[in-house]
Formats: sequence, structure tokens, C-alpha cells
Amino acid sequence: MGARITGTGSCLPQRRVSNADLATVVDTSDAWIVKRTGIRTRFLLSEGETPSDLGVVACQRALETAGRRPADVDLLLVATTFPDMICPGTSPFVAQGLGMRGAPFFDITAGCTGFVYALAVAEAYIQAELGERVLVLGFEALSRVTDWSDRRTCVLFGDGAGATLLERGGDGQGILGISLRGDPDKALLLHMPAGGTRRPASHDTVEGREHFLRMEGSGVFRSAVPLMREAMDNALLAAHLEREAVDWIIPHQANVRIIDAFADRLTLPRERVIVNVDRVANTSAASIPIALDEAVRDGRIRAGHVVVLTAFGAGVTYGAAVIRM
Ligand code: ACO
Repeated sequence: MGARITGTGSCLPQRRVSNADLATVVDTSDAWIVKRTGIRTRFLLSEGETPSDLGVVACQRALETAGRRPADVDLLLVATTFPDMICPGTSPFVAQGLGMRGAPFFDITAGCTGFVYALAVAEAYIQAELGERVLVLGFEALSRVTDWSDRRTCVLFGDGAGATLLERGGDGQGILGISLRGDPDKALLLHMPAGGTRRPASHDTVEGREHFLRMEGSGVFRSAVPLMREAMDNALLAAHLEREAVDWIIPHQANVRIIDAFADRLTLPRERVIVNVDRVANTSAASIPIALDEAVRDGRIRAGHVVVLTAFGAGVTYGAAVIRM
């Protein structure tokens, strides 16, 4: 008996921001952003909105499609790089918003790979018979840690949340194989210098704009493609499946050039690679569960389909999961 996905849900903020809108904030253009990233729009939280509220709605939608209530959840896992508060994180606020009482919750920080890492933990929790149902949320409010004066990063990101409910059961369905990896020597490819215990917040850190996400763009680009492919191949090996058995691949939605370079090296038709980064931009740990939910809801992904989720992210972490829906 494995753990199968019985419900998916997602939620994007209402405010849709185009590349032309961004060109009024920083020195950029629609043409540059589309050519270098493939991104055309993103959805961003407005001032005063509480980030974890997005996560609550995504979870409610996942529970609704599974025909479950918050009281049925035995564990809530929230994959997020930038929580509502460093302490106590995001998961308590999502649990509170859902009206959960007593069940455990915790955050998982593994950058954009966080959702895949959380799926592995969820499956292990169910296999260990610690619970029957685990709600896994990928959630990110990157607009709140983006330096809106830095055109090299601010055009890349969006906010959003995607959730899945995993339940015990389903012979032949569920997670068929998983691979998690990391390369700590690349820890500073993506980082926020201050605000943690290594460099606590001070006037100097604020003046130095050290509370924003910093990224070495070309280093990320070079690492992303081989790492996502390695992760995918390892997960397929664990699942005892060949690439030809795969119906859909959902790579982390970082940018279209990375996804194209990844897809070009596959022996699978390009149409099987799910892409929504052009519309929602890079939502980090939320990118895969949002894309999964959209493809389930529009009927592309159906029961019985084999889906590969593959990601890389800050850490650097990378990993993949093979799932039969
Ligand atoms: N608009 C206009 N010009 C820009 C912009 C912009 N938004 N951003 C950078 N430029 C300029 C630079 O200033 C530079 O100008 P210069 O030559 O006069 O100095 C020029 O464009 C080239 O800059 P590069 O940084 O070399 O541009 P590059 O071709 O490498 O593209 C990009 C940058 C898109 C960030 C690329 O490196 C990339 O895709 N990297 C992957 C990063 C990524 O996807 N990160 C996602 C987050 S990580 C994750 O999800 C795990």
C-alpha cells in the first residue's frame, strides 16, 4: 500500500502584473523579459494581504476535490522558502486558517525543490503508519523578498500556492519512485544574506538591501538542466520505469529557457512537458503543485497517467518524484 494523490488545489493572488507594468518600475522591457525568460505575466500579493491566506485557499480546494475536511488531515506539511514569519513559520497560520485542531504541522525549507522533498516526507509518514492523510502545500510569497530596484531578479518571480492531499492506499497508484539530492557547495547561488542568525537584522543590513533574494543567474541556469535530468532519471530508476512510460513531466517552472533546454535533451515529445511559467512566473516551492493542479483541472492529467515532477532550488537541492495518478 502506497500513498496516492486524492485531491489537488491552487490559488494565485488576484493582482496580475504584466511585463509592461514592470517596465514602469525598473529599466526593462517586455521584449527583454520574454526573450530571456519566456515570462509574460505574474500574480503578486497586494499590500496588506496575508501571504498564508493563499495557502489556506489552495488547501481548501485540494480537500474539496478529495471530499475531505480539515479534521481528516493527520499532518500538514508546508514547503516554503520564505515563511510568513521566520518563527513560527507558515504552517501554524495555514493550520489555523483551515480550522485544524491538534494535528501536527511543520515547514520544510528546501527552496524550489521543497514540494518534492515534502512529498517524500509525506509518503514516509504514511508508510510508517503515523497517519493516513497528509496535506502537502507548496507556498511562496516571493514578491515580499524581491528587490524591486534590481531588474535582474524582480522580473522572474510570482506569488502563489498549490496543495495536494496524499492518502494511504491505491494499489499501483501514488508515488512510484522518488529521488532527493543536494549540493551544498552551491549554497550561495541563491540566498538572502541577512535576517537569519548568522547576520541578524540591523540598520546596516537594511541599508545594504541584504533582506532581499540574491541570485547568481548564470550559475543557476548552468546547474538547473543537468540536475533536473539527473533527478528525473534517478526517480524513474527507483520506479522501475523507462522514460517512454511517462505521460507528463512537470519541471520546476523557473523560466522557459531552462525548461526548453531540459526538454530538448529528452526523448519525449515536447507537448508532454507542462509549462505555465509564461503566465505565473517562478513561484519557487509552489510552482510544481500549481502546474499539477491546473493540468488536473483542465483534464490533461487523468487517472492512471504517469507524471514526473522534477525540481532544483536554493541549497542547492534537487529531486524528482514519479507518480501514477
Ligand atoms: N531587463 C533588461 N535588461 C536586463 C534585465 C532586465 N530585466 N536583467 C538584466 N538585464 C541586462 C543586464 O544588466 C546586462 O546588461 P549589461 O550587459 O549592460 O550589463 C544584460 O541584460 C545581460 O545580463 P545577464 O545577467 O548576463 O543576462 P542573462 O542572459 O544571463 O539572463 C537571466 C539573465 C534571465 C536571469 C538568466 O541568467 C537566467 O535565466 N538564469 C536563471 C535564473 C533563474 O531562472 N532563476 C530562477 C530562480 S532560481 C530557482 O528557481 C531555483
